[in-house]
Amino acid sequence: MVFARRAAPRAAFSPTVAPLKILFVSPEVEPFVKVGGLADMVGSLPKTLAALGHDVRVVFPAYGGLRLDSSWRARPEPLGVDVGTSAHWARTWESVLPDSRVPVYALEHEGLFGRPEVYAGPWGNHADNDLRFAFLCRGALNLCLQLGWIPDVAHAHDWTTGLLPVLLNTTLRHTPLGGVASVFTVHNMEHQGYADRRVLDFAHIPPSEFRPDSTESGGAVNQLKAGLYHATKLTTVSPTYAEEIKTPAGGHGLDAVLRFRSADLVGILNGIDAAVWNPAMDRFLPRPYDQRSLVVGKRAAKLALQERLGLDADPHIAVFGVVSRFAAQKGLDLVAEALPHILDRMHVQFAFLGAGDPGLEQTFRWAAENYPGRVGVHVGYDNALAHLIQGGSDFFLMPSRAEPCGLTQMYAMRYGTTPLVRATGGLIDTVAQYVEGKGEGTGFRFHDATAPALYNTVGWACATYYDRPDELQAMRLRGMDRDFSWGPNARRFEELYGWAVAARRAAG
Ligand code: ADP
Ligand code: GLC
Repeated sequence: MVFARRAAPRAAFSPTVAPLKILFVSPEVEPFVKVGGLADMVGSLPKTLAALGHDVRVVFPAYGGLRLDSSWRARPEPLGVDVGTSAHWARTWESVLPDSRVPVYALEHEGLFGRPEVYAGPWGNHADNDLRFAFLCRGALNLCLQLGWIPDVAHAHDWTTGLLPVLLNTTLRHTPLGGVASVFTVHNMEHQGYADRRVLDFAHIPPSEFRPDSTESGGAVNQLKAGLYHATKLTTVSPTYAEEIKTPAGGHGLDAVLRFRSADLVGILNGIDAAVWNPAMDRFLPRPYDQRSLVVGKRAAKLALQERLGLDADPHIAVFGVVSRFAAQKGLDLVAEALPHILDRMHVQFAFLGAGDPGLEQTFRWAAENYPGRVGVHVGYDNALAHLIQGGSDFFLMPSRAEPCGLTQMYAMRYGTTPLVRATGGLIDTVAQYVEGKGEGTGFRFHDATAPALYNTVGWACATYYDRPDELQAMRLRGMDRDFSWGPNARRFEELYGWAVAARRAAG
């Protein structure tokens, strides 16, 4: 993989295609509502596209937990949403993405979105998720009609918006929205949104779409599959993942669909919001730093992190950080298995931030109790601590079993923190393997998803930290030098939108 050097800053991009009207529809948008990296992507790409001259607007649900500050205003007219058998109405809240003029619209509906959580409450996934997100899809499209703003392309994300391209191809084909092209981005094949076929009735999608080459899978509706069949163009979030998902091992049952549509599928690496994840301007760091002040800045961040998580204050010890959903996908069970062996034999500390799998939460809490001062854990969601871990750790641990893209390893490199990752998906595309003595690489990669392979690689990282500090310092600087911002990849989206619009026009 060849990495682009950071380009000289430019005042604005010049569009390579004519300015487009682009509608983003998503269940998550940073900074308003976030479960994972999907929110970061949808909160940042539209701003870059707008800077390229496009008219981009974002629609998401106004969940019960959404904090509506004074930047939000309610649109005066209620929004009628054509779902179900009786009249459904939403209240539309309007604001902009921070530091931009990109309009965002949050759809309020007490019965469907009044709960604070996005996907799952204390008892698991909401039983009406199919109806909630069908409402989002149809609501976003009805909002366009109400605004008198017909997009050239609608960009939908993951299974929750899989029915949107179906609506455009069927129910809405002979309406003013019938010419809208669709782009569907897969952020994760592991969540497919299986639902009862009632969702088709609810969304007013013809029952004839309940068939294997449309929305049906194993006798149920598969909303991810629906999006994959119906969208004009498909993307996923890294080039390597685009290949992996076309294989039985990575396709989670949909690899044949992806092979069928492979001419329309592109892997485009996510960019990061380089203003939000910038160690030189980070208000969560005690002493923001850049490449020249890396050593002093990281030392201050490490001490602050150690204090925050109850670790022994020691500027010299190697600190490994984790910021992650605690889910099987993330491979943290490998860390749990290797942890006692690492702690018994290596001079290291661990800083864990995350939540999810109760077994993993329990294991990391156990480690903190049994290795006081050497393991610190915060179970929960904490954006400030996520930034501090990025700044204060020496290594960022990401042993994912699968990783469509992964953003946190890119944040780590930007903060001069060396990633230690399993070689999969977007981690292959973003972390170049360290080669001892050659001045090459930006991190440590291991291949086998086993605890011994992880253990050995942590040992390799420790040896580098203690025995070859100059090499590690040079590697940190190489990582900081990478350009992970949206620039070039936003242009690839721009090009793809152009192809989607042309293909939709050609389809008549
Ligand atoms: P995924 O989307 O699979 O969870 P990514 O690496 O793409 O993985 O994105 C994860 C995002 O969520 C990052 O912005 C990361 O900082 C954030 N994050 C994950 N867990 C937490 C947490 N417990 N507290 C704060 N931020 C978190
Ligand atoms: C998903 C993936 C992650 C990716 C993110 C944003 O949550 O698990 O790898 O970075 O989406 O695209």
